[in-house]
Amino acid sequence: MILIIDFGSQYNQLIARRVREFHVYCQIDPPNVDIDYIKQLNPKGIILSGGPSSIYEKNSPKCDAAIFNLNIPVLGICYGMQFMINALGGTVKKARKREYGFAELKVKEGAGLFNTVGGKTKTWMSHGDSITKLPRGFKITASTENTKIAATVHTKKHLYGLQFHPEVHHTAKGKTMLRNFLFDVCGCKRTWTMKSFAKDSVSQIRDVVGDKKVILGLSGGVDSSVTALLLHHAVGKNLTCIFVDNGLLRKNEAQKLKKTFKQHLKINIRFVNAKTKFLKALSEITDPEKKRKIIGKVFMDVFESEAKRIKGAEFLAQGTLYPDIIESQSAFGGPTSVIKSHHSVGGLPKKMKLKLVEPLKYLFKDEVRLLGKALDLDEDLIWRQPFPGPGLAIRIIGEINNKRLLILRNVDDILLDEIKNSGYYRKLWQSFAVLLPIKSVGVMGDKRTYENIVAIRAVTSKDAMTADWAKLPHKLLGKISNRIINEVKGVNRVVYDISSKPPSTIEWE
Ligand code: XMP
Repeated sequence: MILIIDFGSQYNQLIARRVREFHVYCQIDPPNVDIDYIKQLNPKGIILSGGPSSIYEKNSPKCDAAIFNLNIPVLGICYGMQFMINALGGTVKKARKREYGFAELKVKEGAGLFNTVGGKTKTWMSHGDSITKLPRGFKITASTENTKIAATVHTKKHLYGLQFHPEVHHTAKGKTMLRNFLFDVCGCKRTWTMKSFAKDSVSQIRDVVGDKKVILGLSGGVDSSVTALLLHHAVGKNLTCIFVDNGLLRKNEAQKLKKTFKQHLKINIRFVNAKTKFLKALSEITDPEKKRKIIGKVFMDVFESEAKRIKGAEFLAQGTLYPDIIESQSAFGGPTSVIKSHHSVGGLPKKMKLKLVEPLKYLFKDEVRLLGKALDLDEDLIWRQPFPGPGLAIRIIGEINNKRLLILRNVDDILLDEIKNSGYYRKLWQSFAVLLPIKSVGVMGDKRTYENIVAIRAVTSKDAMTADWAKLPHKLLGKISNRIINEVKGVNRVVYDISSKPPSTIEWE
């Protein structure tokens, strides 16, 4: 495995992605990890990420410099390189000219990281400080016009530094450099596959859980479904899944899920019909945050009382993914300001004294999909777009009631049908409809109508942190609008949301 130390770079998840694309396992940890922990991990190599700080700032992140004496190859990127050079006795100073964007790299030594890279190559720079003096034993291996020490190496100690970012795709030969580091320098092997992950994960779960009982909240999304499959392989009948039907699901969703999990996978699953409870609690509520809080609370109550019936349960399994973990332990820590209170079962383990099992906590979303594939999960489930816990409640702006739910369900069903038929479904992060709280005038069959408006939202995104509105073909949008107005009673206008995130969010509430 490769250990990535996170100095707060916006690109650190990208470094991890690149390493894993080479089928090498890697893990991101904050700078304050203990040196004994690193020794225990025994990584084949360590990558020090970039970061927004200057090494001379008082609170700039630092890790234990003892890592340079472990006889483990180290690659420092940008701030990571400056940290390494500074820690080993070199000098870093404010650059006379800051370098942002493309820079041509002149390679002096075509060995090590630059094997097969060539004499000149385009790189992506983003730094205000530069190295002015190298410690003993280091030499310059590449330069740009403004940065003399753009790359360095201490060959004997296997310490490498790059001032630019090899992980971004703007660095033309970045992948080659990372590959050279992983395989030539560190001697990694391509053993990280989803089949091997599944095997290891099942045996780890068995070690931890033993013959105890496990509960899992199944939402119908890919993360909780894959978690359920892994747990099922590991503990079989000792796993009980709980699916709470909150009445805020898409059309036929609960039935489809029932079929997949009960008939095909034979997983022990309890379906709880709590529609009335949720709708009652939400009646006349229009404030988005209030809706979320109510849904969260009712969910907890329903889930808890169902879980209590499973006697002797000691564990709660969750489909937490790696980006959530990284976010909560980043170099500078601290939760970001609350934009929306997301719905999860996070409070349950504490309340019910359950221990957590989170087998996906080192995976990215697309790896979870690959894992689902390796476990023979239904294709429809694997490729299902994310669906928020509070469901249609946050897509019905204003009051939620059965009538409005029915309208939105039917609209949403047509939208998904057309998006799937057009081949866009997998290309989009999400595509859904929103029911607005206003009406507009229309004309149908020579008669005046005064009916609802729905908005269509379709976005592309890698991780939901940022998103762009999808440039769907006008013909497709026209067809969607036409079908909705013709087929769904109560809708006479369809609009398309053309806002990106930021400044908008993906969901409307
Ligand atoms: P926003 O609207 O904040 O959404 O841009 C980002 C992503 O998160 C999903 N989302 C949720 N998922 N519980 C969830 O499980 C929630 O409460 C929740 N709110 C938003 C949203 O669908 C998008 O993918």
